[in-house]
Amino acid sequence: MKNCLICNKPVEAFMSFGKMPIANGFLAKDQFSEEYFFEMKVASCTHCGMFQLIEQPDREKMFNENYAFFSGTSKSMALHYKEFAEYVGSNFLSPNDPFVVEIGSNDGIMLQNFDAAGVRHLGIEPSENVAKVATDKGIQTVCGFFDEELARQIMTEHGQADAFLGANVMCHIPYIHSVVEGIKILLKPKGIVLLEDPYLGDVIENTIYDQIYDEHVFLFSVSSIKYLFELHDMVLVDIEPQETHGGSMRYVIAHKGVRPISDSVKKQLDKEKMMGLDNPETYETFRRNCEGSRDSLVSLLNNIRQQGKRVVGYAATSKSTTIINYCGITADHIEFISDTTPVKQGKFSPGAHVPVRAYEAFVDNYPEYALLFAYNHAKEIMVKEQKFMKSGGKWITYVPEVKVLG
Ligand code: SAH
Ligand code: TMP
Ligand code: ZN
Repeated sequence: MKNCLICNKPVEAFMSFGKMPIANGFLAKDQFSEEYFFEMKVASCTHCGMFQLIEQPDREKMFNENYAFFSGTSKSMALHYKEFAEYVGSNFLSPNDPFVVEIGSNDGIMLQNFDAAGVRHLGIEPSENVAKVATDKGIQTVCGFFDEELARQIMTEHGQADAFLGANVMCHIPYIHSVVEGIKILLKPKGIVLLEDPYLGDVIENTIYDQIYDEHVFLFSVSSIKYLFELHDMVLVDIEPQETHGGSMRYVIAHKGVRPISDSVKKQLDKEKMMGLDNPETYETFRRNCEGSRDSLVSLLNNIRQQGKRVVGYAATSKSTTIINYCGITADHIEFISDTTPVKQGKFSPGAHVPVRAYEAFVDNYPEYALLFAYNHAKEIMVKEQKFMKSGGKWITYVPEVKVLG
């Protein structure tokens, strides 16, 4: 029996996705024999409502000098973080020497906007290779894992922050109580915390089960985030749904008694009750939906292959590791995956070892079907891939349901 990472009460898995590799662990042939796997089981705590992995690989196995996810590979995300930075700049920064801290700052996709505006900033990023891209651009970055101890050091050296930001990183950190304590120490009395993470409500509603992979130790809801921060005397004051990553939520958090609580928090809490996020039956239904989605995708791919038609995977996303390994997709189903990230090219996908090739391999020899692993970037991709569609190419998607487009 495991205990909840938030409230410490016993939690029990409601489903297993089977053995999973490191989602961003793209590998060369000579590394196949030593590939690491763990059993990916998930639970929703019946006491505090936090959705979590029962087991997560050690952090150094995921976040290291070979981290394969570079935030800057998506133009639409660059625009998203530009708007995010503008929102912070016009609402939350003091006129006198403001200071912005971001954890999981990766290649500087967010902080580059503060840098350009001359705002004092600091990124905290443990994956050395992506952190180096940021420092090479002139973005102030500390290479390390944020926690309470690092927060104290930063405070001593740089002072407290007006704004503490974290996009798609809080949900990665199992020692989250230490992180929240760190935030508390580092945040000015009137400072603001802005977090953005994949939203449990969207995952459940649209069966977006590929949001579950090694890095995502949590999937947050408004209710579970509120509970977590209240344990540390901090208050969730506002929320705002986001379209990013197929459905995310922005959480606005402050020290206790400093800001009024927006009606939208209460409204979303009511909505979560209506959705049954606190009801174990909801997760039983989710499990059945995952199995149904897997079976439809596999039978669609088998049909297409029986007709002798080619399928190529479009974008070797972290999320695709869950789809590929849970569904048992192999190089017999998809010839290769094309991806624009240089460090992924020439390697093999985690677990199933499907070859990953440069984007040009897709363009040079269009397949009949492209399996759209980067469905969260669909808008950007549809604009870019007019020629593929004009050539008769079709898309296979699986969120919110398995279907063929085009
Ligand atoms: N914020 C970026 C990157 C998200 S990926 C974006 O939204 O595109 C998550 C990042 O968090 C990775 O770069 C990873 O190295 C980093 N990370 C993981 N644990 C961390 C921790 N304890 N403190 C700071 N960053 C962490
Ligand atoms: P993400 O879904 O986690 O943001 O990962 C994006 C991945 O998709 C990254 O490896 C780059 C890849 N990608 C492409 O190959 N082509 C594209 O047009 C886009 C937008 C992303
Ligand atoms: Zn709990």
